Amino acid sequence: LRVEKQTKDSVTFSWSFGRYQLRVWHSPFRLEILCEQEVMVTFNSKDKLWFERLQHRPRATCCAPSGPSSIGADLCLHGFRHVYGLPQHADNLQLRDTRDGEPYRLYNLDVFAYPLYSRLGLYGSVPLMVAHKPDRTLGVFWLNASETFINIQYSDHQVTFVSVRADPQTDVHWLSESGMIDCMVLLGPSPQQLFAQYAQLTGYQALPPLFALGYHQCRWNYIDEADVKSVDAGFDRHSIPYDVIWLDIEHTDGKRYFTWDPVHFPEPAKLQQHLEKKNRKLVIISDPHIKVDPSWSLYCEARDRGHFVKDREGQIFKGSCWPGESSYLDFSSSATRAWYSRCFGLDKYKGSTPSLFVWNDMNEPSVFSGPELTMPKDAVHCGDWEHRDLHNLYGFYQHMATVEGLITRSGGLERPFVLSRSFFAGSQRLGAVWTGDNVANWEYLKISVPMVLSLSLAGIAFCGADVGGFIQDPEPELLVRWYQAAALQPFFRGHSANVTNRREPWLFGDEVTAAIRTVIQQRYSLLPYWYTLFHQAHTSALPPLRPLWVEFPEEESTFSVDSHYMLGGALLACPVTEPGIQEIKVLLPGSDEIWYDIHSALVYKGGRTLSLPVTLDTVSLDDNFTPNCNLLSPQGTADGELYLDDGHSFRYRDRKAFCLRTFDCNTVIQSVTILGVKSKPSAVIVHASETPTYTSMTPENKPPKQPLSNNTCSYCVSCYSGWLLRYICVGMCVFNISK
Ligand code: NOJ
Repeated sequence: LRVEKQTKDSVTFSWSFGRYQLRVWHSPFRLEILCEQEVMVTFNSKDKLWFERLQHRPRATCCAPSGPSSIGADLCLHGFRHVYGLPQHADNLQLRDTRDGEPYRLYNLDVFAYPLYSRLGLYGSVPLMVAHKPDRTLGVFWLNASETFINIQYSDHQVTFVSVRADPQTDVHWLSESGMIDCMVLLGPSPQQLFAQYAQLTGYQALPPLFALGYHQCRWNYIDEADVKSVDAGFDRHSIPYDVIWLDIEHTDGKRYFTWDPVHFPEPAKLQQHLEKKNRKLVIISDPHIKVDPSWSLYCEARDRGHFVKDREGQIFKGSCWPGESSYLDFSSSATRAWYSRCFGLDKYKGSTPSLFVWNDMNEPSVFSGPELTMPKDAVHCGDWEHRDLHNLYGFYQHMATVEGLITRSGGLERPFVLSRSFFAGSQRLGAVWTGDNVANWEYLKISVPMVLSLSLAGIAFCGADVGGFIQDPEPELLVRWYQAAALQPFFRGHSANVTNRREPWLFGDEVTAAIRTVIQQRYSLLPYWYTLFHQAHTSALPPLRPLWVEFPEEESTFSVDSHYMLGGALLACPVTEPGIQEIKVLLPGSDEIWYDIHSALVYKGGRTLSLPVTLDTVSLDDNFTPNCNLLSPQGTADGELYLDDGHSFRYRDRKAFCLRTFDCNTVIQSVTILGVKSKPSAVIVHASETPTYTSMTPENKPPKQPLSNNTCSYCVSCYSGWLLRYICVGMCVFNISK
């Protein structure tokens, strides 16, 4: 940064050889960020910069011990008419102009059957706003964990502080209850660069263990060990793959986490071993409230070591939750986090084994007896911080302590898997989140798509919604559609509330079972792709789920689309979220792209909206280039990546034990589906730089001919549209397809 210019009113700094500038005006105070002399962002453009000073009043005279406090600031985003982010809200992806009502609120709350299209705060908060226009994506990160409101105004003309122009602008006003103004503007300019800038500040997505990307089966509750075993066997009986079965609060002894109900779960370790034989895992719930029970050693330990949040009088805070009267662990304290982490030690947590993983729920925190079902703002945390100051961080810190517990349990060797309901900026470093207590109706299925896209834009890439809807009973068609949609979302878990009917996938007749089986199998066949996408998120911050504009940043027609999206750079997913429909409209971006319908292998040109017929077993999935299959992109080339490692440990990081292959135009390992071959080829010649080893060919499963002496192999293919050739080879291959 160097001083470029100084006047009596302003000083201008520049960087990147003068391309970028920061101009600071002192009266009235303004900050302008410019790129090539164009103002992109003005801080305090409407003079709303605001802070109240802390006062030192005696506690009794005021509800806040340091007097009322608040901070605020406004920014103008010049040239932008689309802003996104600020999860979590049950709303469309593009943020709305708030002049017609309430501002967006960021305040983590337990909202059962949350209202749709609402700006109310839900379970987690990420104070990151992402703005996009064809030539730039930028971000505003407002690092504050107290209750926060954001007002947004879109206008068609720009008012800079020196001129008025007929260009759009977005004015944003942030207001937080306490803390200080810590506002970062991230300049992109590409979506990818913006994601990386944000990840450098808050962390990259944790690389999940591979099993966590499979299908999860949950219910409040699986009653006992026999029930768990029979559901587990049901998946095998119906040839439906799955990886994880979950236990909700009733598995404990009277909602005392880290214990087991002695009648229903007398042999939990054996149960885990039974599952582990098939490589399956058990996830149990562990909430932040601890039953007040002086006869329970874990409660006494936490109490005696000072691990609970206090009330304003300095007594241990008590509120009610599932176990009745409860106290709440103070996860903002590093000592409490360390203590809690140790509770997951295999020696300490009786009945747990290395194949047990964890679910943190109710960690907004949910306090049934508290204001808005949460902790009173004047509760006191370690270091005398009031709850109001860190409310939105409470769940994040529980998530952190749990993750550390699982890592420590394995001697630092194994990757953890922890799902959390509450979250904050940076939760991506810890694991997965979900969208809480949704309802089994079509509207909630539909909103799940923008909700997970919004989380993905805000860095939290491992996210999903309860399949089927948590509350109430889905009709079979809804259930199938929900499985189809969720199989294309990162975290894929069926879950249902205690008062709903059982809904394991085979309970609705053969047609439904078959449709669900197909879609879960498809998820598993895409698993290497998902895993590679997660590796990308882990290393370069690109989320697996991307709004269309992330891949097609210059195409304005994509900017408001949130019903379909890109899954990585190769697949466009368009879930069906309405009942009884026979046709779905899909925007295929990119006028020079060629898109293939994954199911029919039909070819479409991009740059148009397409109507595709759908039946109960279709979910619309189109691809332009795919990672291990490729042909006939507009340039006749394609590329992709495949990431592999042991799927569970940190050896990929500590010993670089992984394989990352980039496939260019025609390099393939193991299998290739070639789409877009206009007529049945009479022969396919594979030229390989090293001798390939061929294994089999489908559909006939015939071994192909031996490679020719010059490492060329030629054989006939009897094909169907989109034929599949299976082989293993090392090195570069080129396919020649003879008409
Ligand atoms: C609320 C959670 O959102 C839900 O998923 C869970 O089943 C219940 N708590 C009971 O633990």
